Amino acid sequence: MSAPLRLAPPATGPAGLAGPGLHAAIIMDGNGRWAISRGRPRSAGHAAGVEAVRRVVEAAGELGIGTLTLFAFSSDNWRRPDAEVRALMRLFRSYLTAEAAKCAKNGIRIAVIGRRDRLSPGLVRVVEEAEAVTAGAGADRFLLRIAVDYSARDAILRAAGRCHGQGELSREAFSQLLADPPHDGRPVPDVDLLIRTGGEQRLSDFLLWECAYAELIFTDRMWPDFERADLAEAVREFHRRERRFGAVPGPVSVEERVGVSVR
Ligand code: FPP
Repeated sequence: MSAPLRLAPPATGPAGLAGPGLHAAIIMDGNGRWAISRGRPRSAGHAAGVEAVRRVVEAAGELGIGTLTLFAFSSDNWRRPDAEVRALMRLFRSYLTAEAAKCAKNGIRIAVIGRRDRLSPGLVRVVEEAEAVTAGAGADRFLLRIAVDYSARDAILRAAGRCHGQGELSREAFSQLLADPPHDGRPVPDVDLLIRTGGEQRLSDFLLWECAYAELIFTDRMWPDFERADLAEAVREFHRRERRFGAVPGPVSVEERVGVSVR
């Protein structure tokens, strides 16, 4: 009697998009509360948040993360007071200016996602320079994506607009259209783990398509206090979870799947 045909659940997610390493995405929340609780202006919390960004980028590769997407400024954040928005834009600019060459040297490729038409021409120039400096050969071991003026729903709408006339698209082809700027024509992998700091438990219009099967990890830690150990714990928690992508645990026989004998 022949053994029943076994079908393993997908190893890399439903669309099979995962590249080398995990794709971690972080909603870096809590900067304002961190600062206010210390009697400091909210912008001080954002400045301290930049140090947490540096710690996390340094640690991510060692923890098995190959793509890291950071939510730095949502399209809804334009509603914040002008002074806070200006302070944030200055921080993005100084971070990219200071880090681009170091990232290139360490094999980290930078991509900024989101709308650019509402950013200042100076910031757009710095973004383009950072992307160009880190785009070189060999700088593909680790992809750092920074979301600025980003809204997942707007990104999906724009990608849908680009689909026009292309007939029926696969999920992978749509993911490729969503990668804006395009990542060598390759789709960005689905998010494996999404971390949100600051105690809230919502997605806030971040990577809604890419998070279809993400493991969600919420922590009360305020972003400026987020340490390497917190990222390591989130990765450990991710590995403790069983990802089934809609299937059942373990390999599934065809009989179990369709409910009839196929022998
Ligand atoms: C949310 O906290 C955080 C932001 C809107 C900005 C995130 C920016 C940084 C971490 C610094 C710069 C980033 C890079 C990539 C250089 P919040 O202000 O909403 O905090 P709250 O909920 O306590 O008010």
